[in-house]
Amino acid sequence: MSPTSSRGMWSSRAGFILAAAGSAVGLGNIWGFPTQVGQGGGATFVVIYLACIFLICAPIMAGEIAIGRRTGLSPVGAFSALAPGRRWWLLGALGVLAGVGILSFYSVIAGWAVAYVWFTATGAVSGSPDDIGRFFAEFTGSGLISAFLAILVIGITAGVLLGGVRAGIERVTKLLMPLLALLLVALAVRAVTLPGAGEGLAYYLRPDLSRLADVGVFTSALGQAFFSLSLGMGCILTYGSYLSRQDGIAASALWIVALDTSIALLAGFIIFPVGFSIAGFDPTASGPGLIFTVLPRLFAEMPGGHLFGGAFFLLLSVAALTSTISLLEVPVSHCVDALGWTREKAVAAVAGAISVLAIPSALGNGAVGVFTSLPGLGMGFLDLMVTVWNEVALPVGGLLTAIFVGRIWGVDRALEELRAEGRWMPVPELWSFLLRWVCPAAIAMILVAALAALF
Ligand code: PHE
Repeated sequence: MSPTSSRGMWSSRAGFILAAAGSAVGLGNIWGFPTQVGQGGGATFVVIYLACIFLICAPIMAGEIAIGRRTGLSPVGAFSALAPGRRWWLLGALGVLAGVGILSFYSVIAGWAVAYVWFTATGAVSGSPDDIGRFFAEFTGSGLISAFLAILVIGITAGVLLGGVRAGIERVTKLLMPLLALLLVALAVRAVTLPGAGEGLAYYLRPDLSRLADVGVFTSALGQAFFSLSLGMGCILTYGSYLSRQDGIAASALWIVALDTSIALLAGFIIFPVGFSIAGFDPTASGPGLIFTVLPRLFAEMPGGHLFGGAFFLLLSVAALTSTISLLEVPVSHCVDALGWTREKAVAAVAGAISVLAIPSALGNGAVGVFTSLPGLGMGFLDLMVTVWNEVALPVGGLLTAIFVGRIWGVDRALEELRAEGRWMPVPELWSFLLRWVCPAAIAMILVAALAALF
């Protein structure tokens, strides 16, 4: 399919699932998930994350796909078509902003992944854990290279949206995603057999119930769940608008959730055993550098490690690219549909704006003091972006989407869409109960508790 000026259709349900899974699987799974588990205290985070995925996000995902398919429009148009004359289109606009904001920091991390293809394949990053850590600090501390790489990633993404090579990318992804999964399994097998891996597994799998008192763990787990599934910002909605009525929504949603969650869990089975095999490892202290400082350690231990390392970061870069494409698509299709811009103009303007916004995230890892530690906030610019977009904007978007489907458009109409052409829709009562009551209540409680904890 090619969502250019004329609206296309996915060739099959598998085509939709692969493209949506391509959007979902990315840095969120392999970089974001382990980083958040590390900061959230291990297994407790994992349990809350899984609860958010299955009780909150999966029902919302079916709702987003249903809105997209019913209207065949991008988010702003879709919400105004289903609630004419009301302000629900603002929810679509929030998604457009989230696309811009998320891509601005996502491109920085993706740029690091691209650089690490070279660094690991050539052996530039090697030596003791201290050497590897110092290498990362020096590399990211030179903000100009990070900024250049981020803009390169944005440029490549823009080129893909304009160049009509998108269908080709999706075809290649069909091959590379299973390869990434296989490589992750192989790395996990190596990682859990390292000396000292047991401590890492215990950290990852044995919940520490005292952490349940920390509302920060809930906000980051909820935000991470939305981020990882590309949910709450109209991205899945847009992809759903290309889905044919012959294809089941519930089954598709469950497939995407299952694929995305398995890849994230798998990443944890690599990072923590390797991390804890390093003396003095502190998962809370690593921040966004966790995978870049821990994984090279594993590659150094493995026969053929350069090859494995290069392949790993290459596949990660490709996974990131299919996510950046979907992130850029939301604001671009909005400018085309709502503002009447040409696709070229929209891509150039949006990519340009995102490039500017990427700079403080790129310079905030040691290069420029104010961006590294924002005065009065105790965090860097990149962390601020993660907090604002992942932990606030996406859950708010998800909350409003649940309310919209459950109470404005109405579960009955949504269910009609879910069951179109007699497709499989298991336990519709459970779905509507989760969507109407559990999703809004749980998200609202977490957001309110987080707000209260600020004061
Ligand atoms: N889900 C993607 C990832 O895990 C990131 C993303 C978020 C993509 C929101 C699109 C929309 O890497």
